Amino acid sequence: MAITKLIIFFFVLLRLIPALGSRRSFEGGGEWQLLQKNIGISPMHMQLLHNNKIVMYDRTDFGRSNLSLSNGRCRVDSSDTTLQRDCTAHSLLYDVEANSFRPLMVQTDTFCSSGAVLPNGMLVQTGGYNDGERVIRIFAPCNNERCDWTEHVNYLSVRRWYATNQILPDGRIIILGGRRQYSYEFYPKEDSASSNLHNLTFLRETRDAYEDNLYPFLHLLPDGNLFIFTNTRSILLDYVHNHVIKEYPHIPSANPRNYPSSGSSILLPLDFSSLEDPTKVVAEIIICGGAPPRSYLHAGQGNFVHASSTCGRLKVSDPHPVWVMEQMPLPRVMGDMLILPTGDLMIINGAGRGTAGWLLGRDPVLEPIRYSPHENVNNRFSLMNPSTRPRMYHSTAVLVPDGRIIVGGSNPNEGYNFTGVLFPTDLSLEAYHPPYLAPHSAAIRPKITNIGNVLTYGGSRDILFTVSAFRGKNAISVRILSPSFSTHSFGMSQRMVILRLNSVWQHHSHSQTAYRATVTGPPTARIAPPGYYMLFVVHAGVPSPGVWIRINP
Ligand SMILES: *[C@@H]1O[C@H](CO)[C@@H](O)[C@H](O)[C@H]1NC(C)=O
Ligand SMILES: *[C@@H]1O[C@H](CO)[C@@H](O)[C@H](O)[C@H]1NC(C)=O
Ligand SMILES: *[C@@H]1O[C@H](CO)[C@@H](O)[C@H](O)[C@H]1NC(C)=O
Repeated sequence: MAITKLIIFFFVLLRLIPALGSRRSFEGGGEWQLLQKNIGISPMHMQLLHNNKIVMYDRTDFGRSNLSLSNGRCRVDSSDTTLQRDCTAHSLLYDVEANSFRPLMVQTDTFCSSGAVLPNGMLVQTGGYNDGERVIRIFAPCNNERCDWTEHVNYLSVRRWYATNQILPDGRIIILGGRRQYSYEFYPKEDSASSNLHNLTFLRETRDAYEDNLYPFLHLLPDGNLFIFTNTRSILLDYVHNHVIKEYPHIPSANPRNYPSSGSSILLPLDFSSLEDPTKVVAEIIICGGAPPRSYLHAGQGNFVHASSTCGRLKVSDPHPVWVMEQMPLPRVMGDMLILPTGDLMIINGAGRGTAGWLLGRDPVLEPIRYSPHENVNNRFSLMNPSTRPRMYHSTAVLVPDGRIIVGGSNPNEGYNFTGVLFPTDLSLEAYHPPYLAPHSAAIRPKITNIGNVLTYGGSRDILFTVSAFRGKNAISVRILSPSFSTHSFGMSQRMVILRLNSVWQHHSHSQTAYRATVTGPPTARIAPPGYYMLFVVHAGVPSPGVWIRINP
């Protein structure tokens, strides 16, 4: 027994020494920055808007938050389960550039809901709990202090709690699943409420005794169909005709990957940079983390099982794809996966044992992991510098144009509990600076100086940028990235498209460090649905700050 303890002690020590040693410098591991000690709420949902403001919210029935509503307003809600008169906020708008925030007002409960941004830049939030379960809420960005949520009650055909959304090529939003909902519907509504509801038995079939089918992983594929993964299974759905085109093989290892065994999922960047024929694009899904079967049950009994440490990749554009499994350096459940401007992925937040759910996670994983999809197979994962704050159940992460990841939330308690609990409600906001933001990369960091703010399908566009130490045309690529709706370990509508680069040349009329690149916009709306994207010029592995561009329908 004593020897085992000693071994564990040395193991912990060994892990701490390099981590502590590297905290001060970037040196390949990135850096953490505390942005706000206390924003007053614990954001379990986040969406970045094209004016560089992030909408954040948690639930309305957590009791009093630590942020007051402005102008002495109060929310009066006879159906609130905790507090019928509440003068605190449960949503806020965070200004990325100013590092400031102001309270927003939500009336009905937004707990464990979903969202997507319309092509015009408005956020449509859907569903929630209790009196909020069939409500949709719209947030239209503004550049003054006045914009706020507007709510539309009874909009949804059925309750949507733990559903997933995705923006579609025609600019509509699909809302899929949710607790005990084996169907999908659209925003805006189809003609009559009854015709807006489409059954999908796959969602029922993939529900087990502990659910494991909530917040389905949903990705729009380049052929216009939807990839849907829940539990251990996945299908290709023609949502227009409500027809399951095919089922893919089960992911090996039998570990469920969806809530509460929450892993995360990404459609890898779609690369058109060297493609003449857009139908030849490779579409590949990666799913990382999750929990072994019955982990939720075990966690409820105090036995916190090690999370899954595998990722599976599936080349869904192949006629007969097979899962290729890889080992992460650490097991992880409740990790958030994000696409970085470089096309690498970052897995951030989460726990090493247990599952999602009240108090069911243990061993917070403080180290983000970078995954480089195109490195050779033994060289893809890198462990980054750890944070100091556990961010497990109800934590969130979004990428912002300057390349940082804004991280917040974490509340495994059924209220705002700051003392006397194992993992107190976290009200802070942090930024993780990936290694490409290191000061020593300044000379190779490009800066976009001019770009029209519109990109068209298949249209050509000039981008002017500067870079001090240019390493040649082959070191350049240009990509667009959609801002994702982050909740419960999944970034909804997250996608990157690598644009075709036609030419790069020195822009002599300016200085010696000015260049002009000509790119071709994405081929179709199936590849990049209309809306706002961050455009990045990446040079020698270092991205420029992103610039917002809009693709019109
Ligand atoms: C939140 O507000 C309560 C009540 O005002 C206060 O006691 C507590 O210290 C605050 N907690 C944090 C983390 O700010
Ligand atoms: C959809 O499923 C519901 C619930 O099982 C059922 O009542 C309804 O008839 C189904 N609708 C269609 C069009 O199959
Ligand atoms: C957490 O806070 C809620 C709401 O204030 C309260 O009902 C609950 O008892 C607290 N839980 C713990 C473990 O303190």
